Amino acid sequence: MDSTVVGLKLVVLALSVAIWLFGTCCHADFTPADDYLINCGSTVDATVDHRVFVSDTSGAAILTTPTQSTAATTSPNLVSGFEGAMLYQTARIFVVPSSYAFMLKSHGRHFVRLHFFPFKYQSYDLTTATFKVSTQDVVLLDNFTAPSSSSPVFKEYSLNITRDMLILTFVPLGNNTPAFVNAIEVISVPDLITDSVLSLDPVGQYLGLSTQPLQTFYRINVGGPKVTPENDTLWRTWVTDQSSFVNSTPTTLANFPGKLNFQNGLATEEDAPDSVYNTARRLQNSTRSVSNMTWQFDVDARSSYLIRFHLCDIVSKAPYQLLFDVYVDSWSVVKDLDLSDKAFGNLATPYYIDAVLLSSDPSGKLSVSIGPSAVKIAAPDGILNGLEIMKMNISTGSVSIVAPPSVARSHLGVILGSVLGVVAAVVIAIVICIFFRRKNKLHPPAPSRPSSSWTPLNGLSFLTTGSRTTSRTTLTSGTTGDTSYRIPFVVLQDATNHFDEQMVIGVGGFGKVYKAVMQDGSKLAVKRGNQKSHQGLREFRTEIELLSGLRHRHLVSLIGYCDEHNEMILVYEYMEKGTLKSHLYGGDMPPLSWKKRLEICVGAARGLHYLHTGFAQSIIHRDVKSANILLDENLLAKVSDFGLSKVGPEFDQTHVSTAVKGSFGYLDPEYFRRQKLTDKSDVYSFGVVLLEVICARPVIDPTLPRDMINLAEWAIKWQKRGELDQIVDQRIAGTVRPEALRKFGETVEKCLAEYGVERPTMGDVLWNLEFVLQLQEAGPDMSNINSMNQISELPSNPKRVSSLDISSTDQSRVPIDYSDMSTSNAFSQLINAEGR
Ligand SMILES: *[C@@H]1O[C@H](CO)[C@@H](O)[C@H](O)[C@H]1NC(C)=O
Ligand SMILES: *[C@@H]1O[C@H](CO)[C@@H](O)[C@H](O)[C@H]1NC(C)=O
Ligand SMILES: *[C@@H]1O[C@H](CO)[C@@H](O)[C@H](O)[C@H]1NC(C)=O
Ligand SMILES: *[C@@H]1O[C@H](CO)[C@@H](O)[C@H](O)[C@H]1NC(C)=O
Ligand SMILES: *[C@@H]1O[C@H](CO)[C@@H](O)[C@H](O)[C@H]1NC(C)=O
Ligand SMILES: *[C@@H]1O[C@H](CO)[C@@H](O)[C@H](O)[C@H]1NC(C)=O
Repeated sequence: MDSTVVGLKLVVLALSVAIWLFGTCCHADFTPADDYLINCGSTVDATVDHRVFVSDTSGAAILTTPTQSTAATTSPNLVSGFEGAMLYQTARIFVVPSSYAFMLKSHGRHFVRLHFFPFKYQSYDLTTATFKVSTQDVVLLDNFTAPSSSSPVFKEYSLNITRDMLILTFVPLGNNTPAFVNAIEVISVPDLITDSVLSLDPVGQYLGLSTQPLQTFYRINVGGPKVTPENDTLWRTWVTDQSSFVNSTPTTLANFPGKLNFQNGLATEEDAPDSVYNTARRLQNSTRSVSNMTWQFDVDARSSYLIRFHLCDIVSKAPYQLLFDVYVDSWSVVKDLDLSDKAFGNLATPYYIDAVLLSSDPSGKLSVSIGPSAVKIAAPDGILNGLEIMKMNISTGSVSIVAPPSVARSHLGVILGSVLGVVAAVVIAIVICIFFRRKNKLHPPAPSRPSSSWTPLNGLSFLTTGSRTTSRTTLTSGTTGDTSYRIPFVVLQDATNHFDEQMVIGVGGFGKVYKAVMQDGSKLAVKRGNQKSHQGLREFRTEIELLSGLRHRHLVSLIGYCDEHNEMILVYEYMEKGTLKSHLYGGDMPPLSWKKRLEICVGAARGLHYLHTGFAQSIIHRDVKSANILLDENLLAKVSDFGLSKVGPEFDQTHVSTAVKGSFGYLDPEYFRRQKLTDKSDVYSFGVVLLEVICARPVIDPTLPRDMINLAEWAIKWQKRGELDQIVDQRIAGTVRPEALRKFGETVEKCLAEYGVERPTMGDVLWNLEFVLQLQEAGPDMSNINSMNQISELPSNPKRVSSLDISSTDQSRVPIDYSDMSTSNAFSQLINAEGR
């Protein structure tokens, strides 16, 4: 009886411990699996900023050759002014190669920090000590002498360790000089470094960063105060930008008192703490021309560096108002960076950008600049919140290893065994936490709530006539009905000049689309349903229910509807520049630049990603095509026409079975064969749009030779041969960077994979397209050859198939546009066309 009670109590205790551990690590601070803090040469523990550095004789780390090392101490007065003074009062001195060994519980990235403060002790003068420090895999310090500037220094490394034991070996070099160290930290950290990063010189993709040892050279809290380890999520030190900022242009400091929006961002609390993201330096807005703000650093000449920019728009009053450029030396890292866009329209959302500079300047200087965007719609502005500069190739010397005696290892085993129970609980909690964190990191962030990214409704002037429905009809969906408005028929009749044919701007399966001009001059798009169509009513409801809940910068907003006199009218924001398709081919529009095309693809991908992931149930568009991607007056892309949209699969179901709908030429072959619809069908169709964008020809062109009729089939053959460059739209071919095209082609190929499961998610596609844009934008400016005059001077590609030239002046040829037809009648028309 007694034992049962005790047993139950133990279970309850264990559960509460587990819950507590889970709570602490997932909602408050990160708890590292490996956390060694060693106070070298000391017999007592030292507490610094609530962290306990244990004596190096405590057995936490295994010290080899203890009899041939010396524990040295210096006067407390000498170190009293420094942070962590207790650590620097003692040192371990080695006269023969020696090591500390650390048993590791986790593999992956660890911070290794070595603290040095040279002083004189007996016959040793540590200020002249020259030595090497290495792990089993990498030389951390070679021919190193601690600067005797009378203040402590520390060196920090980020190492991906895949061993169970880390051995730090200290090797004295030269005659009569020892090696020494004052304190050591070995801490496992979350996975903060991605494997592939933009490389600037030459522009390309740098792969293999995840295994690369890194040494922190600079870590700056730009525009803010110094952050000490106790205030950092991973016990890092962030210094001010006082000594690196080049004071050439007026700037202001920004300080954000509110709460940062970590949920939506790419960055987490572990990437940098609040105190980094909520302070920034900002380009001062003045009437004079604004130039770059620049920071300059001393680095090793001709070495490789990873540069991480921490950014968070804490200065804007509203989203999408801040646009700026980011540079490393004279290399462009990103142009026209729009932080709101990265954060689904949210402000105060932490974000970071990485870039690799493979060979720093021979002068040994590295500079980082933020400059105003060349885009005129934005006021000259720009911010930077934090900066990290990490050296990638630390040293080339050969490693030295002094392995610990096996006796020490088994001794440690006993200690480990005795605390195994507790450790296991901790490890399990951490694994769970890391799992959850990973999950959040791997998948591009989904918008948390639709409401936070709503764009303001425009063109609502008619509301002043009191026409907003008070009694909501069944057509509006109950919870979201607040955002759509019933518009009186007479208002629409007036605005469209009695539905004048002159006002028609498009025709779809649903009916005609008219341009409407309201009394105050604002424009709207009015989609008037074909009353005879039965199916129309269902689509009308679908569209209202869906659209009234959707507000996103890259989706065409529904402004209102009208159901008077059995009318089915939907009213949208007016998209000044029409369809993407009309800008690509078949019209007289000036060609879009390659960069603009990429931006439009990124915007459309963002809109679709939002549809797929922004809600509890994913929404499948079902008719993704260039005619359904509209452009506003700034050529910002918005996805339109959700008439065919159907809410995606829930939970266990993986598809929605339904009659095949969509547009010929864009149809997912798997969907067509099996009639099973998933969000990967949209990915396929989007892949076809990407081909339209790069080739600028219709998806189905029956006037071409048989093997060229279908764009997707034809272009993917070129891509698989690695010759996509041969069929790039001639008008932009000269401006497309090969690296960007390669990545673009790979992305298209993945989208068009035969089976849905092999295709990337829309989030992955978005990420890849942003990377293409980075590859295109980085490095020397290509925009100067964007002007049409110069393009025509470029040699035309002799290998190009002449019949591809869709801008041919043959006026008699009127290609039938299959992409605008629904599948039901497109088939018969194709058969006719082929038989002609
Ligand atoms: C070690 O460093 C000193 C001064 O920093 C330099 O004079 C010496 O040549 C270096 N030795 C080697 C082997 O690199
Ligand atoms: C560490 O390197 C291994 C390969 O040696 C790799 O699989 C792993 O993803 C890397 N871990 C991190 C955190 O980068
Ligand atoms: C750092 O933390 C201490 C105590 O936790 C706090 O008093 C101090 O204000 C913090 N400093 C900053 C810059 O956040
Ligand atoms: C920047 O300055 C210009 C001219 O002084 C002003 O019109 C504009 O509103 C300012 N922008 C911001 C964001 O302060
Ligand atoms: C780092 O790499 C660059 C380029 O590969 C090379 O020139 C430089 O010598 C290397 N530096 C070190 C310290 O290994
Ligand atoms: C900012 O610096 C970059 C790179 O050095 C340069 O190309 C650009 O013209 C500069 N912008 C301004 C406004 O000075």
